[in-house]
Amino acid sequence: MYLQFYGLREPPFGPTPDPKFLFQSSRHREALAQLIYGVRERKGFIVLTGEIGTGKTTLLRTLLERLDPTTSIAYVHNSALDIQGLLEYVLQDWGVKSTATSHAQRLFELNEFLIDQHRQGLSPVLVIDEAQNLSVPTLEAVRLLSNFETTNQKLMQILLVGQPELRNRLNAPELRQLKQRVGLRCHIGPLSPEEARLYIRHRLRVAGASDTGIFTDAAVQRIVDYSGGTPRVINILCDHCLLSGFADSKKRLDARVVDEAVEYLEEGERPRWRRRREARLVPARRTVWAARGGIAVIVLLLAVLLAYAATALGWPVPPLDGSLGWLPVPPRLGGTP
Ligand SMILES: Nc1ncnc2c1ncn2[C@@H]1O[C@H](COP(=O)(O)OP(=O)(O)OP(=O)(O)O)[C@@H](O)[C@H]1O
Ligand SMILES: [Mg+2]
Repeated sequence: MYLQFYGLREPPFGPTPDPKFLFQSSRHREALAQLIYGVRERKGFIVLTGEIGTGKTTLLRTLLERLDPTTSIAYVHNSALDIQGLLEYVLQDWGVKSTATSHAQRLFELNEFLIDQHRQGLSPVLVIDEAQNLSVPTLEAVRLLSNFETTNQKLMQILLVGQPELRNRLNAPELRQLKQRVGLRCHIGPLSPEEARLYIRHRLRVAGASDTGIFTDAAVQRIVDYSGGTPRVINILCDHCLLSGFADSKKRLDARVVDEAVEYLEEGERPRWRRRREARLVPARRTVWAARGGIAVIVLLLAVLLAYAATALGWPVPPLDGSLGWLPVPPRLGGTP
């Protein structure tokens, strides 16, 4: 809708975890480097945690793009599965034509697959996103999967990705064996105010903007205040701002535009451009009061003008005390009584 107006090729603040838009803050860069290292060096269990909407899935997808072709990935993003569902899903994702009907048979098929991969010099990686939702028994069963190994090498890397609850879950006494096997952990957090400013510019640039200063400094400050530096919230807010700026034909988006977008997100208030359309049918209360004020000023001016003219022409002018002495005295009728 607003793409042409702002000279963009595509929406800069989309909701999907598209690696093309990855902004590498110092923490994202460090986490990505660690993940690549962990997978290449076959660290076994790797755990990536981060607050909601801070870019875990985006980072994960970037990692998958950067791994070499000898890595075969099974990617589970439905963590509501139990271990049976999870195994079925993983086998299918790795292209195993499963005929298993029991847990033992599925484990057997998985083992066969992993040994075959090992023979071919391939390195399978099982990625479980949103792993904070896995139950403790499922996590424990996932630990058992890591027992597939040769005498000197794990046959599969397992990457658990999730919100901070995952970290808490791994601290449960029932999962201390899994915790002990984690070879590498990384954590990402929200962006700092300066990073958030660069993030906005970065996404605008990737989306094709030649002018990446669409948001004024004050607007960026408001965006940082509201979002706390969480990229997903920044995206939602910036997208609303662009839409409302476009409706107002504003090339520069200031703090006021951000405030309105926040109001809309918080209260479900209609954005100004919609309200203005409705105003054609029903005048806004502010407009009615402004009109009343205007009329009062005009009446006052007319009164002053009239008083001035009357004085100049010698007409009687009423005094401010309200007495009637100024009225001309009518001639008396008849003589004295
Ligand atoms: N570093 C980043 N660079 C570019 N975009 C990002 C970054 N981090 C997050 N985003 C954007 O923010 C949104 C949310 O990102 P993502 O889904 O990766 O977060 P998440 O941490 O996986 O969230 P959740 O906790 O809900 O799983 C996406 O639109 C994504 O493109
Ligand atoms: Mg995610």
